Formats: sequence, structure tokens, C-alpha cells
Amino acid sequence: MKIFLDSTDIEYITRLRPTGMIDGITTNPSLMAQSDKGFEEVLRDICTLIEGPVSAEVVVTEAGEMYRQGRYLASLADNIVVKLPCTWEGMTACRKLADENIGVNVTLCFSANQALLAAKAGAMFISPFIGRIDDTGADGMELIEEIRSVYDNYGFETEILAASIRNVEHVKNAALIGADVATLPPKIFEALIEHPLTDKGLEKFLQDWKATGQNMPIP
Ligand code: E4P
Repeated sequence: MKIFLDSTDIEYITRLRPTGMIDGITTNPSLMAQSDKGFEEVLRDICTLIEGPVSAEVVVTEAGEMYRQGRYLASLADNIVVKLPCTWEGMTACRKLADENIGVNVTLCFSANQALLAAKAGAMFISPFIGRIDDTGADGMELIEEIRSVYDNYGFETEILAASIRNVEHVKNAALIGADVATLPPKIFEALIEHPLTDKGLEKFLQDWKATGQNMPIP
């Protein structure tokens, strides 16, 4: 499963880049609002740091305007993917952009039927929002399962991008179901490595090594 970061934090992205694990970035207008830089600068900086897809969201609702804003966003860097909301207007703009080989990430997906339409409109990614579904009392992960089945039934190539991830269980379950991508807030990405037995085991290994009195050189 590919891992994207759901962030506009340039310092954080710069710090994590050497791990080689960041396959792409997602942004949205709310994340842009958290940055003290303008959106163009943010997008250009991110696209310089990360080779993979960088999702940039339109902020209009009419199909023609979405299409034009999408083309403008895509002109900022080769790896920009245009994020469009899952509405009929969004579907129309998606088809037009996809026909011009501009990648589209259809966002705010809350049903398998919406995901079916996005795939038929040529979306590169569909973004089901797991956490926001959980917030309503339903199980967001069921939607990932449903979309996986629908896409596999018909061989759609649209990638399932598990979004609105709130905890490490979401990440594990998305991977088990076969989501193609999960986009993670920084704190969830960091938490993926944590396990108390790793910490305990490491402490014991280092303690035992220290007791040998030996030194291992760092050439
Ligand atoms: C992904 O593309 C979305 O921007 C993001 O995952 C939304 O997450 P939230 O529901 O925590 O805002």
C-alpha cells in the first residue's frame, strides 16, 4: 500500500523525505488554511520535495470553473493531481480533465455508488473518508471493502485512497482490505512505528551489550 501524507507542512515533509516512504501528498483547503504561505508556494515546494502525486483541490463548484481551475493547478507542476468533490459538477470536470490526461482525485466520497461514478468519470484516485463516516456511528472501513469489491468486479483502475484516517487501526485495516493508498496525518504516520515490545526489547539488547564492556566502531 502506498503511503501519502495529508499535510501542507513543508518542514515536516522535508524531514520525512529521507525515509523514502512518502509516495505522495494530499492537501485540501482546510490544510492550506493552516499554512502561513500562499497555496502556490506550498504546492510548488511540496512538488519539488516529493516526486509522487500531490493532490491540490479546486475551490469552486461549477463544472466549467472546476475544469479551468483544475487545468491551472495542473500547470503548477507535473505531479499535481486535481482534487474535485464527488458531485455531478465534479464528475463532469473529472471527465474533461481525465480526457486531457490530467490526474484527478475525487474527494469527499461517502458511498460505493459515488466511487463507481468517479471510476466511470476517469478518476485516478477515489478518496473515501473513513474517519468522517466513523464519526456518524457507521463503520468507514466497510466502505473501503465495498469499493474494493466494486472496482475488482469490473477491473476499474481508479486507485482507492483511504482518507480521513484517524488511528493506526485504520491504516492496518485499509492495508488488509487492499486499499491502494492511505493518506495519513503526520501524527498517525509517526505512530505506525510504535510498539512497546520494540522499546522494551531494544532497551534489554543495549543493556546486555553494555555489560560486555566492548565497543563497536562506527567507521
Ligand atoms: C484527504 O485527502 C483529506 O484531505 C483528509 O484525509 C480529510 O481528513 P479529515 O476528515 O481528518 O479532515
